Amino acid sequence: MTTKKRILTGDRPTGKLHLGHYVGSLQNRVALQDSYECFFIIADLHVLTTRPTREDIAAIPQNIRDLVLDHLAVGIDPNKVTFYVQSAVKEIYQLNLIFEMLVTVPRLTRLPSIKDMARNANIDEEQLPFGLLGYPVLQAGDILMPRAHLVPVGKDNEAHVEITREIARRFNYLYGEVFPEPEALVPDVGTLPGIDGQGKMSKSAGNAIFLSDDAKTVEQKVRGMYTDPNRIRADIPGRVEGNPVFAYHDAFNPDLDEVNDLKLRYRQGRVGDVEVKRKLIAALEAFLAPIRERRAHYEANPSLVDEIIAAGNQRTRAVARETVQLMEAAMGLTYFR
Ligand code: TRP
Repeated sequence: MTTKKRILTGDRPTGKLHLGHYVGSLQNRVALQDSYECFFIIADLHVLTTRPTREDIAAIPQNIRDLVLDHLAVGIDPNKVTFYVQSAVKEIYQLNLIFEMLVTVPRLTRLPSIKDMARNANIDEEQLPFGLLGYPVLQAGDILMPRAHLVPVGKDNEAHVEITREIARRFNYLYGEVFPEPEALVPDVGTLPGIDGQGKMSKSAGNAIFLSDDAKTVEQKVRGMYTDPNRIRADIPGRVEGNPVFAYHDAFNPDLDEVNDLKLRYRQGRVGDVEVKRKLIAALEAFLAPIRERRAHYEANPSLVDEIIAAGNQRTRAVARETVQLMEAAMGLTYFR
C-alpha cells in the first residue's frame, strides 16, 4: 500500500453553495479526492469569530447539512473524503492555544483578510474580537491537526496558509519535527461573475445560481441574466469578453464548437441573446442533472448525511488525539497527567 499525502481543506458553514463555489473549489476537490487522503473541515468555530450569538449558532446545524449535501451532490465520495465538524474535535482547541504562543500580534494585525472580515461584519477597529484576530491561528490548528501536506484554498486564504507554515516552522524549530510545512494549492481559475454582471457570484450579492436550484429557477435566472448592455438589438455586434453569459458557457458548456459558433455570431451581430441563453440553460441542465440525482438520493435518506458526519468526526478524533500526543511529547508538556 502506498501512503497518500494528506489534504486538509474546508469551508465555514454559512449557506448553500453556488456555481461560483463549483468553479472555484468544488471541481478541484472532486478531482483531488482519488489521489490524496482528504480531510474536509466544516469550520463552525470560525463562524463564531463574527457571529457568536445564540441565533447565529442555531443556524449552523442546517448549514452544515447543506454544505455536506452540496459536496456529496457534486460527486465527493464520503468513502474517500473525511468530513468533520470543527467544534466536535476538541483537540483543535488545544492546538489553537499552543499556536497562539508562536505568532506575534503585529503579524496578525497586518493581515488584510482580518480587516476585510471585520468590515464585512460591520465591526470597527475598537470592537475587533480577539478571536477574529486569531482567525488564522485557529485555521493553522485546523490544517496542522491532521498534519496535512496540501491545502487547496482560494486566493483569499493564501495568507492564512502562509501563517500556518510559519507556525509549523516555529514549532518544529522549538520542539522538534512534528508538523509538515503545508503547501497552499490555489487553483488557477478566474472567478465566475454573478448573474447581474456586478462582480463575482456571491450569496450576499443575491446574484447566484445555487447548485440546489431547480430547473425552473435556473431558467428564470439565466433569462434575466445581464449580457452586453450596449447591444439593444440582435443585429448589433456584441461583446463576448466580460459578458457573463459567455463566462458561463466557457465554464459549463462542454460543446466547444457550439460555444465558438455562438461567440463568432455574437461578435458579428448574427445571434440573439435568447438563443445564447437557451443554449446556456441546456448546458446548465446537463451539468446539474447528475448533481440533482445524487442530491435526491441523499435527500431520500436524510440520516445518511448525519451518519457521514458522525463517522468523519470519529475518524478525525483518532488522528487529532495522535497529533496532540506528538505535540505535547515534543514540548515536554506531559507532567501531572
Ligand atoms: N478560512 C476558510 C474560509 O474562508 C475556512 C477554513 C477554516 C479553512 N479552516 C480552514 C479552509 C482550513 C482551509 C483549511 O471560509
